[in-house]
Amino acid sequence: MKPYRMGFVGASTDEVCYWLRDNIPKDIETIAIPFLGSGRSLSILATNGRIIESWDQQYLSRVIVEGIFQATEPTGNVTEPKMQKGYVYETRCFPGIDERSAGLIDYIAAHGTLYEHAALTTAIIRSTFRGRIAEWDENSTATTLWEKFQKRLGVQLEYLNLPAEFTHHEGNFYDYDHVGRIKGYDLLVVDPPKIISSADIYSTTFAKLNYAIGADPGSAISFDKWTKYDYFGKVRKLLETKSKYLTFEYTTGVQPTVDEIKVLLDQYGELMVETRTKHRNRYDYVLLYDRR
Ligand SMILES: C[S@@+](CC[C@H](N)C(=O)[O-])C[C@H]1O[C@@H](n2cnc3c(N)ncnc32)[C@H](O)[C@@H]1O
Repeated sequence: MKPYRMGFVGASTDEVCYWLRDNIPKDIETIAIPFLGSGRSLSILATNGRIIESWDQQYLSRVIVEGIFQATEPTGNVTEPKMQKGYVYETRCFPGIDERSAGLIDYIAAHGTLYEHAALTTAIIRSTFRGRIAEWDENSTATTLWEKFQKRLGVQLEYLNLPAEFTHHEGNFYDYDHVGRIKGYDLLVVDPPKIISSADIYSTTFAKLNYAIGADPGSAISFDKWTKYDYFGKVRKLLETKSKYLTFEYTTGVQPTVDEIKVLLDQYGELMVETRTKHRNRYDYVLLYDRR
């Protein structure tokens, strides 16, 4: 099975996911994934007997885990393309979006199940310019959006009912101080937000996507904002969570640099192995540490 792909700009590449699967110690049973995102690594690491706990503030992460990975069958309420007025129609949060596409998104968000919200997420992302969420693609219409949504409902079937035990928390990892964090895990899988300019892309651009697919805009998702000034503090705090092993995904062209991050991580464990893959104009790293 390929890693689950939602069409996420910042998502781990297939190579990174396979590397994780093939390089973590064989006896790993309990895994914590503090920053789940679209659940790509989780989809590859979920095997029989494993217990996986994950966190993310984004509604879309819960939609993927509960609506697909943990679900035994695809659930559906939306049988035909209808329109209604809602968050996207009122705000036109994807600049350039037409009335009918906005109305269709609002209809699916209002009536759809989690399984359908997951499909809607991908259909929206793939209807935006270069999949970047910022603006609507001028070639996308309500008809192409509906087709993408339908196709996606089929693609997701392969990821239903993955063979692991899941607990997902829709919230800020740093707000959780529960037994798992104190007792520790066999493996901590970390893919933190990266700072390209002044802050991470999630806290700056992803709120509208979550509201579009059905998160309550009144709930005002409080995204944890990451900047280069508090980055080390956040990583240090994260590593207070005990684990026998740690995998850390990082990349070049961001602040702090890979070398700076390595100096920090070296204080928390021994680097066992690392990999570096070229991805467009950057190198993606995965570092595996022994923390025993
Ligand atoms: C780089 S992405 C993870 C991408 C993931 N590896 C994938 O393939 O989709 C980082 C994620 O961390 C989440 N995040 C940031 N701060 C967080 C926090 N304090 N608690 C939980 N999740 C957080 C963001 O919402 C984002 O989804």
